Amino acid sequence: MNKLQEYIDANEKKFREELFELLRIPSVSTSSQNKDDVKEAAKFLTKQFESIGLDRVTMHETSGHPIVTAEKCQHNDQPTVLVYGHYDVQPSDPDMLWNTPPFEPTVNNGRVYARGASDDKGQSFTHIKAIESYMKTGTTLPVNVKFILEGEEEIGSPNLIPFIKAHKDLLSCDMVLISDTAMFGEDQPSITYGLRGLAYMEIEVTGPNRDLHSGVYGGAVENPANLLCEIVSKLKNGNGKISIPGFYNDVEPLTEEQREAIHELPFDEEAFKKNLDLNEVDGEEGYNTHERTTARPSLDVNGLWSGYQGEGAKTVLPAKAGAKVSMRLVPNQDPNKIAKLFKEYVSSLAPDTVEIEVKEHHGGYPIVIDLDYYGLKAAAKAFEDVYQKEVLFSREGGSIPIVADFKKVLGVNSILMGFGLTKDALHSPNESFSLKDFQRGIKTSARFFEILPDFVE
Ligand code: BES
Ligand code: MN
Ligand code: MN
Repeated sequence: MNKLQEYIDANEKKFREELFELLRIPSVSTSSQNKDDVKEAAKFLTKQFESIGLDRVTMHETSGHPIVTAEKCQHNDQPTVLVYGHYDVQPSDPDMLWNTPPFEPTVNNGRVYARGASDDKGQSFTHIKAIESYMKTGTTLPVNVKFILEGEEEIGSPNLIPFIKAHKDLLSCDMVLISDTAMFGEDQPSITYGLRGLAYMEIEVTGPNRDLHSGVYGGAVENPANLLCEIVSKLKNGNGKISIPGFYNDVEPLTEEQREAIHELPFDEEAFKKNLDLNEVDGEEGYNTHERTTARPSLDVNGLWSGYQGEGAKTVLPAKAGAKVSMRLVPNQDPNKIAKLFKEYVSSLAPDTVEIEVKEHHGGYPIVIDLDYYGLKAAAKAFEDVYQKEVLFSREGGSIPIVADFKKVLGVNSILMGFGLTKDALHSPNESFSLKDFQRGIKTSARFFEILPDFVE
């Protein structure tokens, strides 16, 4: 390990500068204007893999953004780890709320501020730099390592699932390693063993053929905005339960043991509230906050629009209203089934006075990984060796839909070795990532590859 440690320590500055180079590329996958930038980021990673000496480095074009793969496989008798990450990022808007430009990485107080710093450029880069450390010090990698980096995670990975299905040999592996989650707290290494699934819907209500004078027509024509609010108000009841008939049918109830494990975690509700400037939390009756955000389903309006939103007042009865709604799912809910139930329920609430269209966006299955899995034990030991602190195991509320597909298509578990923190402000203005965790992440990754052979069962 010594040579590796030395290399990692000696190259701290170089690693950062390279990460900053990647952070300067505005690889916003959802924006067609940024298509070339997304490709630029893929090229940057391709060059990284080539320059550290990996084999079969390939940038695969898709009908959307490219997928980059590379590998170093030197053993027949050792496990193969497939490292997954995403180099695309969320849009930076509202840009006004950023204290520094979103695509000009800026260091403050040991943190780098930039869109994608934590999600997921900074986190996934740790593995590239860990492998570089092996290659550049002439240390034989004790296991086989493959990479798959995509540029469409933030838009639901539309091309990745077909790619995995079509390249089972190229991607064949014993486990997937992913750094795209958060640690339980500062200096508190943790392994995420569950993620929620997702069903993302859009409702559009259309009333009259144009916006109307709200005095001339008000009272005689159904108002799409009023009606949409009525529908939204019927999606949940007052106790935080979701009202869609059949929604909870497949929800696997939490066992006493599972609940205890969650209750034992040092979750600090006061700090949670303070961090968000909230007086009170709110959610499903009978569950605590940490259960609500990780192990129970949820439904939230993500966006809502209609009518006049400019300065002052305009008397208008809007012709259209719309809402985007996300539902987070837990085992054994099926996103397709939930989307169908949502459509049926919303349609049943619609009167004849308007047209309602319910659209389905991307979704994903929830996952929970068995804590006995040897890969998790190796990851925990690697974390403990670097952070010098006992690892916690926790579930998280976000979604990485491809994890369920890795299990279904390749038959393998994923190890969620997150180096982020909730305060990284993913998807928000002023996203950041701790440079100390970037460096510790590289060490943890290197250590994981080193000790994994000892854990194989
Ligand atoms: N890295 C996140 C997921 C995440 C964040 C997991 C924090 C655990 C903790 C990922 O990039 C993401 O944002 N996923 C989306 C889903 C995707 C289909 C757009 C999400 O969770 O909203
Ligand atoms: Mn991510
Ligand atoms: Mn994300």
